[in-house]
Amino acid sequence: MSTPLPRKLFVTTALPYANGAFHIGHIMEYIQADIWVRFQRMQGNEVHFVGADDAHGTPIMIAAEKAGITPQEFVANVAAGRQQYLDGFHISFDNWHSTESPENTELSQSIYLRLKAAGLIVTRTVERFYDPVKGMFLADRNVKGECPKCGAKDQYGDNCEVCGAAYEPTELKNPYSALTGATPVMRPAEQYFFKLSDPRCVAFLQDWVNTPGRLQPEMVNKVSEWLGNNGQDLADWDISRDAPYFGIPIPDAPGKYFYVWLDAPVGYLASLKNYCGKKGLDYEALLHDPATEQIHFIGKDIVSFHLLFWPAMLKFSDHPVIDKLKVNVHGHLTVNGEKMSKSRGTGISPLRYLDIGMNPEWLRYYIATKLNAKVEDVDFSGEDFIARVNSDLIGKYVNIASRSAGFIAKKFDGKVVTDWATASDSFLSGLRSAAPEIQSLFDHREFGKALRAVMEQADHVNAYVDANKPWELAKDPDKSAQLHEVCSRLLEAFRILTIYLKPVLPELALQVEALLNVPPLRWTDVDVPLPHGHRVNAYSHLMTRVEGKMLEALFEGPELGGGADSTTQPSSRPSPSQGEGGNGGAIEALAPEIKIDDFAKIDLRIAKIVNCELVDGSDKLLRLTLDVGEGKTRNVFSGIKSSYKPEDLIGKLTVMVANLAPRKMKFGVSEGMVLAASAADEKTDPGIYVLNPWPGAKPGMRVR
Ligand code: 2FM
Ligand code: ZN
Repeated sequence: MSTPLPRKLFVTTALPYANGAFHIGHIMEYIQADIWVRFQRMQGNEVHFVGADDAHGTPIMIAAEKAGITPQEFVANVAAGRQQYLDGFHISFDNWHSTESPENTELSQSIYLRLKAAGLIVTRTVERFYDPVKGMFLADRNVKGECPKCGAKDQYGDNCEVCGAAYEPTELKNPYSALTGATPVMRPAEQYFFKLSDPRCVAFLQDWVNTPGRLQPEMVNKVSEWLGNNGQDLADWDISRDAPYFGIPIPDAPGKYFYVWLDAPVGYLASLKNYCGKKGLDYEALLHDPATEQIHFIGKDIVSFHLLFWPAMLKFSDHPVIDKLKVNVHGHLTVNGEKMSKSRGTGISPLRYLDIGMNPEWLRYYIATKLNAKVEDVDFSGEDFIARVNSDLIGKYVNIASRSAGFIAKKFDGKVVTDWATASDSFLSGLRSAAPEIQSLFDHREFGKALRAVMEQADHVNAYVDANKPWELAKDPDKSAQLHEVCSRLLEAFRILTIYLKPVLPELALQVEALLNVPPLRWTDVDVPLPHGHRVNAYSHLMTRVEGKMLEALFEGPELGGGADSTTQPSSRPSPSQGEGGNGGAIEALAPEIKIDDFAKIDLRIAKIVNCELVDGSDKLLRLTLDVGEGKTRNVFSGIKSSYKPEDLIGKLTVMVANLAPRKMKFGVSEGMVLAASAADEKTDPGIYVLNPWPGAKPGMRVR
């Protein structure tokens, strides 16, 4: 049964931690949500699409301290960098807010007080690691030690990056504080727990997850597993953290703060409330309106928070949106088959993508072709990207306009005819009758299938192009009327296809609307052809093809903004903390101060360059074969081709980062990074200067 129009939709994406720039995984999620939102807006539905920074927690507090600024300043700096990404990829949030806000404090505290009144908050004394030097309790990620399972050293307090085991920080052997290096001590602390194991919560959740249309089937199964055994396996949730903590104070509990995950989802509501305030909308009325639906787009790694804690919090604080909540979970983005690190993203930097002039709508289109309503990972493959964009988007869709619009402008004073005989209209009626199917696929987030259906229609149109060959008709003055009709029909087909693609390609659709000289296209315009004699504007090129070298530049280049490791030279883009200049007086600003322990983590070794060669198809990289005294050689790609010929380097010694995680690149795996100096601004000095030790150093010696 279809939902009556207009729907009222309150749509959100997961709130990103305000500890760094967006990475490509964030952008993928925003693109997915944005396509759905734009589709819904085109249907005439009322949509409120809001986001916010997830500002609280220990990592942000520590990062701010390291940067020598307050956490508030830190998150404000991060927030200031958001818009360039959102604008850059045409993400149309109606509002961007922060969990560090009066709305979020007020809403989180009031939800908490209601949970307390419902008897679902209890206190218990638990032992926690405490750093005696820093004078604070340590978050799991701030305790390190040896993995209790495999013995690997320097593992975090929650899981081992070597063997993958998950454990409590107190299980680590020889634990130390990652903040000061001190041995932590156990201290009893009274903590606040949300009683997720309460039979009321379990009974409610069992019912809630099984409401049809609320969750994807995979997620219903997952939550049902968690709730199995009558919920006896559910643990209560520790929602408190001790000062010093960057978060929201727990009412009537001096020195206690809400754990970041308590107030993070409340941030969805805080952003909506803030938005309603700005727009003069009635927040309470919107929340209480039975027609309102709340839709979350989130990744599969954060489902427990959204499918257990969050609904239980809403339910037992008597929040009106609990009945409206639907959660759409997506898989992760992999790049050329490589998994993404949560904090570092992948090898694709969104800013680099934009900087090298790649069209954001190529990415929107490509991602959309890969998306479905299931919880499946999406792989970005360079070759596939080129094929999808060049063959489908340009070759099938843009081609239709480039074959027809020019003739209409040049030969027919820009006027279209639509009084043609209906006999040859089969592809147009086919195009129109595809609308309900495409509409339903978009609505159900089956974007890949929707785009395949659109491209099938584009194939029919291209068959018409090939059968009628407008470029041939144009050579024969006697066939002018036929040319006029063929091109008008093609332009009408192009208009309909543009409607179908508009949620994915909003900027291109704007250009097409200008070309066709029509107001913003809505879904219902599928059935409203251009009027006979309507004048369109002169055709200008709509979209260029992707070139292979762009993908090379994308993959070869260093990460920008996302902070991922890179095996090439430093970026030439000044960082926010950099001044304008390179070496002409001012140097690049120093990175935040580190402790000797931080430096000790980087294992620098003398390496002999036993071989060096050009990399086929790359204008930046050299492939180095390095001997680091390990009895085997390493393969390292380095972006130094502009400054060195392979023969300049063979036989020389240099310094490499020997414990950098191997990185899969387009041309192979890079097993470390060679150190090189460069100016902050390549205009000042484009040179790259590879480090070379004084005579006497031997391969394998550690540099400290
Ligand atoms: O995992 C994350 O990146 C969290 N910052 C997501 C929070 S979503 C919502 F709960 F705010
Ligand atoms: Zn381990």
